Amino acid sequence: MSPHADPAGFRAAASRFSTGVTVVTSSDADGAPVGMTANSFTTVSMQPPTVLVSLKRGRTWQAVSETRRYAVNVLGADDVAICRHFAGAPLAQGAPCLDERDGFFLLRQAIAQFGCEVVSTIEVADHTLFIGEVRWCRHQDGLPLAFYASRFRNGLGAEIKPGDALAYPAEGWTV
Ligand SMILES: Cc1cc2nc3c(=O)[nH]c(=O)nc-3n(C[C@H](O)[C@H](O)[C@H](O)COP(=O)(O)O)c2cc1C
Repeated sequence: MSPHADPAGFRAAASRFSTGVTVVTSSDADGAPVGMTANSFTTVSMQPPTVLVSLKRGRTWQAVSETRRYAVNVLGADDVAICRHFAGAPLAQGAPCLDERDGFFLLRQAIAQFGCEVVSTIEVADHTLFIGEVRWCRHQDGLPLAFYASRFRNGLGAEIKPGDALAYPAEGWTV
């Protein structure tokens, strides 16, 4: 048996872990905002409030490495174009507006924002886990953008209540 799972199979299986979508922002050496789409955002601890993002080497990685600060902007369901912009497919009308607060760059339509200071980093393969303590955060109501099976979704399905019968597909496993 190979020591590693087949990459295509791994990608497909991992895509079944549904996530929200964020834009991680920081500032470059000139103080200008940079950002990238990331769905690796995870809460780590409540006390103190701690999160992590897993970033591949690139402009945003460089900025976070140097400033040791980043903001996480949780996208709403209407923000697929913004998600694509920060994943390398620029918006025709130009970069989305980012507000500055205490040196963090924020998307005002985000449904949650976290301002973080890096307290620890872990190198893993071609990514770095940036573990950040949350200095402040805020949120507003709105439907979340979700990512599942490599597609964007309106993140709120029907609520499942105790006793609801769940239908499972009959096809079985894809290897
Ligand atoms: C839905 C989605 C989620 C992504 N999540 C991550 C992620 O968690 N970490 C990462 O390194 N790249 C992720 N990417 C890819 C980056 O957004 C993309 O490579 C980006 O252009 C990197 O920008 P940068 O070079 O300015 O850092 C994701 C892309 C998409 C569309």
